[in-house]
Amino acid sequence: MTRVALLGATGSIGRQAIEIVETNPGLELVAAASGSESIDGLAPWTQVGGDLTELLERAEPDVVLNAVVGFAGLPATLWTLERGVTLALANKESLVAAGELALAARERGGGLLLPVDSEHSALFQCLEGRRAEEVDSLVLTASGGPFRGRRRDELVDVTPEQALAHPTWRMGRKITVDSATLANKGLELIEAHFLFGVAYEQIDVVIHPTSVVHGLARFRDGASLAHLGYPDMRVPISFALTYPERAPTSVARLELAGTTLEFLAPDVETFSLLRLAREAGERGGTLPCVFNAANEVAVEAFLDGRLPFLGIADAVDEALAASDGAPARDLSDLVEADAAARRIAAEVGA
Ligand SMILES: NC(=O)c1ccc[n+]([C@@H]2O[C@H](COP(=O)([O-])OP(=O)(O)OC[C@H]3O[C@@H](n4cnc5c(N)ncnc54)[C@H](OP(=O)(O)O)[C@@H]3O)[C@@H](O)[C@H]2O)c1
Repeated sequence: MTRVALLGATGSIGRQAIEIVETNPGLELVAAASGSESIDGLAPWTQVGGDLTELLERAEPDVVLNAVVGFAGLPATLWTLERGVTLALANKESLVAAGELALAARERGGGLLLPVDSEHSALFQCLEGRRAEEVDSLVLTASGGPFRGRRRDELVDVTPEQALAHPTWRMGRKITVDSATLANKGLELIEAHFLFGVAYEQIDVVIHPTSVVHGLARFRDGASLAHLGYPDMRVPISFALTYPERAPTSVARLELAGTTLEFLAPDVETFSLLRLAREAGERGGTLPCVFNAANEVAVEAFLDGRLPFLGIADAVDEALAASDGAPARDLSDLVEADAAARRIAAEVGA
């Protein structure tokens, strides 16, 4: 029996994870956490907000599924990696913000880090058993979100409601806006760099409107392996919770007849957050943390109607420009970089 701790149990990933646990007799939910919603009785150990590592200490899980949204998920990511407990990671923001610290913690802990993000789960599967020198490059696919094909001047007045209408995925509000700006693909680019140890120039992003191909790895012999399936997060959640098994799920099997596989280059002038993320990742240090923090604050301001859609990229740009990006020696340096970026981003449009 695998003892699962689920952080972010009330969210989009959290609810789908509960469904996977309930239908798999080999999985047992021993702990659950949320940010504010009551979850009494959901698991033997529960916690609402606060320091989630206290819950993990008490529950002694075999696997932690971190599905908290944002930088708030960082202490749990570091705790899990440090102790060598298997980490099923949906909370990409923690790996983006703390890439080097997280990898060092994994090195010390010696446990598994299994991506739950569908693109990274796909790439993890394409790369399994391969040596680094065999890999030529990776491709992350993006649906393009609800504003795919629009130009900058067509995005000036878009509303939160329009940004939240994602064409292929049903997700939490923050990641849905990130998908509309392509900041999500920027975060995923940095996440892929840290997860797979691949240089930024070897990671491409393509727009793929139907979200059937989740990721593709190109190899040095000219072959490419892709991972396909209907867009359904229960697949990567189940994969991470039951690894190395591949447990059955009720997700529909892919029907190729009638399935459209179209790929387009992203428009990084209009969706500049993807470009800014790549630059922040390449320059390194605390810049990915700054990118993430400013983006979190700006998305919240956009959802509250305090910032226009295009203001999200402006806020991130300003925060990056104001930061020296000096590497974080420890968590407190990172928390400081995060806080400074949040202050700058909050002033944009205020
Ligand atoms: N949704 C997807 O399909 C998808 C796909 C790939 C990756 N991801 C990643 O998975 C993560 C979760 O996404 P989501 O779409 O599931 O988000 P969501 O629906 O907004 O849910 C977020 C969850 O985090 C909890 N939370 C927020 N702040 C917290 C805190 N300080 N302490 C403890 N719990 C806290 C929330 O609790 P309350 O409800 O009580 O506030 C909620 O359970 C994100 O990092 C996202 O990028 C999501």
